[in-house]
Amino acid sequence: IKAAVRDQINKTEALQDVQDIRVKYLGKKGELTAVMKELGKLSKEERPAVGQLVNTARAKIEAALADRMEELKQHEMEQKIQSEKIDITLPGRKPVLGHMHPLHLTRRCMENAFLKMGFSIAEGPEIEDDYYNFQCLNFPDDHPARDMQDSMYITDKILLRTHTSPMQARTLQAHNPNEPVKVIVPGKVYRWDYDATHSPVFHQMEGLIVDKGIRFSDLKGMLEDFLREIFGPKTKVRFRASFFPFTEPSAEVDISCVMCGGKGCRVCSHTGWLEILGCGMVHPNVLRLNGYDPDKVSGFAFGMGVERIAMLKYGIDDLRLFYEDDMRFLNQF
Ligand code: PHE
Repeated sequence: IKAAVRDQINKTEALQDVQDIRVKYLGKKGELTAVMKELGKLSKEERPAVGQLVNTARAKIEAALADRMEELKQHEMEQKIQSEKIDITLPGRKPVLGHMHPLHLTRRCMENAFLKMGFSIAEGPEIEDDYYNFQCLNFPDDHPARDMQDSMYITDKILLRTHTSPMQARTLQAHNPNEPVKVIVPGKVYRWDYDATHSPVFHQMEGLIVDKGIRFSDLKGMLEDFLREIFGPKTKVRFRASFFPFTEPSAEVDISCVMCGGKGCRVCSHTGWLEILGCGMVHPNVLRLNGYDPDKVSGFAFGMGVERIAMLKYGIDDLRLFYEDDMRFLNQF
C-alpha cells in the first residue's frame, strides 16, 4: 500500500488529487482503514506488531500527503505570481482626452481679447419677448426682423432672441445710469435660415460701452485692436456706413483677406474684403428708452457671429461642419 500511495502521490497535479488519495486509503472506507478493521481477526501475538506496522504506514502516508499538499500549494502560488506579473517597463497607455470644440475655442479666444481690454462678460436669456428683442432697441413696428417669417416665435409676443442685442437693453436697465457700462455678451441666437453659411441656431458676441464722452473713434480703435488680435497684426480693417435701428451712425466692418499662419489657411473674396461685424454709436432713443440721458452719456455697441469668425480663422467653408460632430473634423483643432 505504501508503494502504491507513493506512486500515486507522484502523479498528483492538483490539491484535489491529494484529497482523493487521502480518502482512498485513509478515509472511513479507505484501504488502510480496512486493514485496521481486520486486526481483530489476528491472533493476540500478531496483533500489536501488525497494528504498529499499520500505524506507522498511516503516519508516513499522512506526512507524504501533507508534503505533497504543501508542494502543490507552493506551485500554484508561483504560477499565480507568474501570470499576474506586471511589466513596469512597458510604456503607459494614454487615456483618450477630449478637447474643446472649435466654436468654443473661438469664443474663448474672443473673450480673452476683450477681457484684456477690461470688458466683463454677461449672459442673457435665449427666450426673449418682443419688448427686449425689438421695442427697446428702437425697432419700428413694421421692421422685417419682427416678421414671423424671419424670427422664431413661441407665442405672438415671445420669441427666441434673433440677436444678442436685447442684452444691451437688459444691461443698461440693470445698471445705475451714472456708472459706466463695459460688457460683452456671448450666446446663442436663432433665425429662420439654413445653408452653408447660415444655421437656425448660431452664436453671437455683443459688446456695449456707455460712459461720458465715448466717441466713434473709440469704437474704431477698440475694434481694430480686437480684430488684429484675432486675425493677426497685419489685418487691415475697413468701416462701411450701414444701418441698424439701435445705433446711429452705424457701420459694418470688413477685414482684409485672411491668411492664417502655420497651417496656411487663406480665405479671400473677389473684393479682397470680408464682412465681419456690425456696430455703431448707441442710438439716443435706446439710451432714453433704457433710462439713460443721451445729453450726458454716449456709447457704442457691436455684434458679431462666432461661427463666422471661426470659419475665417480656421479656413472652414461650411458652417454645418461645426454641428455634425464628425471626429475627423473635430480632431483637427
Ligand atoms: N445685432 C446686430 C445683428 O445681429 C449686430 C449689431 C450689434 C449691430 C450691435 C450694431 C450694434 O446683426
